[in-house]
Amino acid sequence: MKHKDIVQRLLVWFARNARPLPWRRTRDPYAIWVSEIMLQQTQVKTVLPYWERWMRALPDLTALAKAKPHTLHKLWEGLGYYTRVRNMQRAARLIVERHGGRLPDDFDALLALPGIGRYTAGAICSIAFDQPQPILDGNVIRVLTRLCGIAGDPRERKTNHRLWQLAQELVLQAAETEARPTPTPEGRFTLHAPRSTPAAPHPCSQLNQSLMELGALICTPRQPLCGGCPIAKHCVAHREDRIDELPPLGRRILSTPRRFGAFIAQRRGLFLVRQRPAGVLNAHLWEFPTLELAPDDSNLKRAARRALGVRPETLAPFATIKHSITRYRITLEAYRVTCSRTSRIPAAKGRWLSGSRLQQLAFTSAHKKILRQLVTGAGALVSKPAQP
Ligand code: ADE
Repeated sequence: MKHKDIVQRLLVWFARNARPLPWRRTRDPYAIWVSEIMLQQTQVKTVLPYWERWMRALPDLTALAKAKPHTLHKLWEGLGYYTRVRNMQRAARLIVERHGGRLPDDFDALLALPGIGRYTAGAICSIAFDQPQPILDGNVIRVLTRLCGIAGDPRERKTNHRLWQLAQELVLQAAETEARPTPTPEGRFTLHAPRSTPAAPHPCSQLNQSLMELGALICTPRQPLCGGCPIAKHCVAHREDRIDELPPLGRRILSTPRRFGAFIAQRRGLFLVRQRPAGVLNAHLWEFPTLELAPDDSNLKRAARRALGVRPETLAPFATIKHSITRYRITLEAYRVTCSRTSRIPAAKGRWLSGSRLQQLAFTSAHKKILRQLVTGAGALVSKPAQP
């Protein structure tokens, strides 16, 4: 494979086509770390407002180390996979202890921190410190398997190792490019047969991001835009018309349907809510009292009694929220209930809080939708499937 030509073309393409993402305007390793953690499992357009808000609220590592748990949960509310944010704070505290409050520029020191694996350590080392460390995420896997016509399952050890190796070779090649100022008279790089290396002041950073960007914008899972691809001439899958086969998707895991009931009790303008315990999915987030229902359970007052501790007098459908978490397709049915003796609801079932107080707390995404409908009084009764 012609690594040098591929790298040159990618750098030229990235210089012209990179999206102006806010974390690309900084070289602050902390800001880049935050973006990389948020971007795991989450799309760029979703992350943008979260990242901006986070950087305003917690502009540096010390601020993160000192932040209150509810501040963190509120900043993360809606992004899902909350262990990410708790690990970030644990890591920040260790960085304050071990590294004087500065994110280390050493791959192994980064890898030793909670929530930082091979991908994130490589992303920080390359993007923030311009070190020739490889990265491999879903986008890069797609680009590399197609480029090299790799038919093995990327999750399988041997193929995975080959892909990391390839990513390493490319970023090492990038590190060898000379950083030179703008080479063309128009002040742009030429895309056609570049003779000299383009100006790439941070070649490792730019090369790794160009692979991710190519996967996001051109080498998409379906109907890739090969006509606009700077490395199509080197692409085995393009040449052999195997784009649709690569990367192989493997067997799909069937998702399991699950049904939950949420019960909304109100007393003198206050709502009953509870905080999820530690150690469960969405730990520490708030919700209306909820329990899992059998698919055919129609005795909802009995279910409400289990969730609230008293049997409600009336029970009326309020909203149905459908969403997916990991391999579960979840239907959350929310009901408004009235109880003749709300005062009998045991204290252990939750806390009575006002609508405005609830809006300051971090709710799970599904319960946030219920809350929004309650507070605004608006909305359709069935919401679209959403991210966890
Ligand atoms: N996904 C993860 N990190 C990214 C980055 N720096 N640019 C684009 N997409 C990404």
